Amino acid sequence: MMTFETYLESHRGGALNDDLVIVLREIAEATRQISDKLRTSSLAGLTGATEVTNVQGETQKPLDVISNEILLEACRKSPAVAFAVSEELDTEVEVHAAGKYAVIFDPLDGSSNLDVNVTVGTIFSVIAATRSQDILQSGRGQLVAGYAAYGPQTTLLLSVGKGVQIFTLNAAGDYVMTAANVTIPSDSKEFAINAARRPSWDDVIVDYIDSSIAGGHNMRWVASMVADAHRIFNRGGVFMYPADRAKPGSGRLRLLYEANPIGFLVEAAGGAAIAGKIDILDIQPTSLHQRVPVIFGSENEVAKIRAAYHEERMAEVA
Ligand code: F6P
Ligand code: MN
Repeated sequence: MMTFETYLESHRGGALNDDLVIVLREIAEATRQISDKLRTSSLAGLTGATEVTNVQGETQKPLDVISNEILLEACRKSPAVAFAVSEELDTEVEVHAAGKYAVIFDPLDGSSNLDVNVTVGTIFSVIAATRSQDILQSGRGQLVAGYAAYGPQTTLLLSVGKGVQIFTLNAAGDYVMTAANVTIPSDSKEFAINAARRPSWDDVIVDYIDSSIAGGHNMRWVASMVADAHRIFNRGGVFMYPADRAKPGSGRLRLLYEANPIGFLVEAAGGAAIAGKIDILDIQPTSLHQRVPVIFGSENEVAKIRAAYHEERMAEVA
């Protein structure tokens, strides 16, 4: 079986240069450490909340803070990393003055699920950045992206541009490839949305959900985007955290370390990821913690939603 390490080696000199191999090796090591911390968190008393609120206005949990530190350490161990950007940090952190990449991460996605033993994840992306202003580039520029999902198994999804590979952490602590060139089925009858927010959905989403239900579609909502995404990579479906109808273009999920890496992985697996009329990967970021509407998954389902947004605009224009 191919290990993560062998996989990286097989791309050295191709999609990955020596620097990126080190960056990815360190990120994978960080996710192993986070996985260990999570497994024993209740025993170690790492539950509940801290007194600290992050820049998003969310109360940090001890494991958010620890995971963020572990990933920062991974960046420090990678000489080519110039900047680290994290959900848990107000602004970018300069890591190595001579570095040429930014590592952008959500250390623990879905942290409302932390104390209840439900899957959470780490999302990451690597882009070229020698100056801090290079960080605000569209998601098309991502060199690699991935996530670790900490559930019954710890799995790592990675794309170095083309294709998405899945690795699973074995008992010896090695990531072993368990699925190669994963593709998201183009059709699906399963959607994921927080249905309690229906009053704030726009007409496109209301119509899509109503017609999906009428068409016999099923609903799944874990409330950890990584976990919902992981199901979609395995068997298709559509995930939606749409705009608030009162604030078009708004959203809950953050562009740089949630929407972009997932969008990159989804497109590499043959799915689609949109914010409404446009692809997530085409959004020009304006700030590090910017929020955007997020809709991704099976190509033909996402196409229906995209078409409805375009028709809505046509109706407005007419
Ligand atoms: O990071 C944001 C996040 O936790 C996602 O992982 C998840 O999909 C979403 O928020 C859950 O939102 P809600 O609390 O509305 O169900
Ligand atoms: Mn998150």
